[in-house]
Amino acid sequence: MSEDIRAAAAKYYDLDPNPLDDVPFYERLILSPQAYVLELGCGTGRVTVPLAASCGYIHGIDRSPAMIAICRPKLEKAKIGAEKVRVDAGDITNFDLARKFDLIIAPYRVMQNLETDREVAGLFECIREHLAHDGSCILNVFNPRRDPESMRREWRVDGEIFCWEMLVDGGKIIHHERRPRMDAAKLVLYPELIYRRYERETLMDEAILKIAMRCYYPGQFEKLIVDYGFQIMNRWGGYQNEMYGQGPELVIQFRL
Ligand SMILES: C[S@@+](CC[C@H](N)C(=O)[O-])C[C@H]1O[C@@H](n2cnc3c(N)ncnc32)[C@H](O)[C@@H]1O
Repeated sequence: MSEDIRAAAAKYYDLDPNPLDDVPFYERLILSPQAYVLELGCGTGRVTVPLAASCGYIHGIDRSPAMIAICRPKLEKAKIGAEKVRVDAGDITNFDLARKFDLIIAPYRVMQNLETDREVAGLFECIREHLAHDGSCILNVFNPRRDPESMRREWRVDGEIFCWEMLVDGGKIIHHERRPRMDAAKLVLYPELIYRRYERETLMDEAILKIAMRCYYPGQFEKLIVDYGFQIMNRWGGYQNEMYGQGPELVIQFRL
């Protein structure tokens, strides 16, 4: 697998003081305590660990060994054994687990990290191969909430945008975002997430995570799923019952 772009920044991921409040939403969509769940891009287990308590088995895959290395001790600490959960390094655009799942999820905008049409096609192919005939898949992206022209004009900025600051033992961690470039034709954003840890006023660590975020508009996201041959079951605009297209997120549940 390619280099782990999250190696340096993974340790800061769980500190986000405003994480998505999506865990109860996914818990409600587990229809049976025996359900087999596949989590694509499970990261540090933010969703994996709580969901393991509500389903029969959950399998997480993520391309970042550093994120998985944070997830595994959490599972041990929660005493969730190998009969209930497994997390592996893997590419969500190209994998074969040789089994079907009742629910496939990719929480917190994972699919937006897929930059190319080829990767997106690989994702949908893998979903098709792993979804039970009566199962469902839920994908989520953010709602751009401004038209493409405004996005092209306004998203890129000079300098750093302050996101949050947190006091930790003997110092603080400050998170900023840079927005240096975008692919204006394909509407792929290339933000850089910067974490700096200070002891008193001395900079002790700086981690920079450069990611791709491919944008989808409400109609375009639905069409993509339908064009790949799936049937849409439900759509939401967020995790607090917002209408599709009117909230901060675009969340679609679909089946074969
Ligand atoms: C924003 S994090 C979300 C993590 C977790 N789902 C959550 O909700 O907290 C995105 C995750 O997707 C993973 N990811 C992105 N592209 C991937 C790919 N092609 N294959 C596997 N994992 C991928 C990243 O490594 C990262 O851990």
